[in-house]
Amino acid sequence: MHFFVTGAAGFIGSNLVDRLLGAGHFVIGYDNFSTGQERFLEQAQASPNFHLVRGDTLDLPALTEAMRGAEFVFHLAANADVRFGTEHPRKDLEQNTIATYNVLEAMRANGIRRIAFSSTGSVYGEAQVIPTPEDAPFPIQTSLYGASKLAGEGLIQAYCEGYGFQGYIFRFVSILGERYSHGHVFDFYQKLLQNPAELAVLGNGRQRKSYLYVQDCIDAIFLVIEKAQAKVNVYNLGTDEYCEVNDSLGWICGHLVLNPQRNYSGGERGWIGDNPFIFLDTARVRALGWKPKLTIQQGIIKTLEYLQNNQWLLEQRS
Ligand SMILES: NC(=O)c1ccc[n+]([C@@H]2O[C@H](COP(=O)([O-])OP(=O)(O)OC[C@H]3O[C@@H](n4cnc5c(N)ncnc54)[C@H](O)[C@@H]3O)[C@@H](O)[C@H]2O)c1
Repeated sequence: MHFFVTGAAGFIGSNLVDRLLGAGHFVIGYDNFSTGQERFLEQAQASPNFHLVRGDTLDLPALTEAMRGAEFVFHLAANADVRFGTEHPRKDLEQNTIATYNVLEAMRANGIRRIAFSSTGSVYGEAQVIPTPEDAPFPIQTSLYGASKLAGEGLIQAYCEGYGFQGYIFRFVSILGERYSHGHVFDFYQKLLQNPAELAVLGNGRQRKSYLYVQDCIDAIFLVIEKAQAKVNVYNLGTDEYCEVNDSLGWICGHLVLNPQRNYSGGERGWIGDNPFIFLDTARVRALGWKPKLTIQQGIIKTLEYLQNNQWLLEQRS
């Protein structure tokens, strides 16, 4: 099959591209390299089935042209960082909502009707029901990132209704693994390299979070696309466990054999829009026969090992 992947040079996108190519598919990757890395695509570039287009999702004519011939679109390009939203409110709107509209319009122009979208557990805001199922009420948005992704979900649903599209909406918890280039493991490791004796921790460290290993995430995506055939298919992707930031910090420090003094900024939330407790109900995807292979702790250690072996990435992203 011919796939089109926006955000192909990113953490999750490049892993997805490698898996699609490995399964014998043709892939057009589309990326503006704002956070994506050339080196993430080295393996893909060696394949005759891969074609890379450097372009921006905000450039609708270029996007439409690049998508020609594709049959299925994975839309992963985004401003993927939930923090700092209030510092640049337009960024989430443009990168996550308008860009999604552009992807849908480019699909419409090309007669492509199937899309998978990387949404987020952040759309639930501070959920009242935990673990949070896909049909839980989520009346209040707490981050511009979550709000902009929810708007993207809404557009996809409306295109499914209005133009006969089929949509797969995946609400991820935080993803871990090879090519991880942003998030708390990255931040803690980078800070500890600079000063192994002290560590600044956002919030009180008691925030409870759930994490999923990137290959487990991709396994789930493939399975859902194969088995779920509704017009709109919404799936939480996460593990059936959570941990405190302090637990994660303990595993990271244990692995690095460090015992820094922890300086907490205090409060239940690390930043505006930080959700003190994210734990998604994944019964829907499990009912299809999926279960993650790695625990949160194993995923965190694997991520840390990847960063230890790829110090270039720390320099690139700092
Ligand atoms: N990593 C996570 O924990 C996580 C959790 C929930 C949802 N998601 C979502 O998954 C997707 C991928 O996230 P990621 O962690 O791989 O992030 P990433 O930043 O590594 O990847 C995003 C990619 O999109 C590209 N991109 C950004 N804006 C673009 C634009 N305007 N035009 C073209 N390309 C553009 C970047 O260069 C990058 O390669 C995002 O949509 C993100 O919101 C990620």
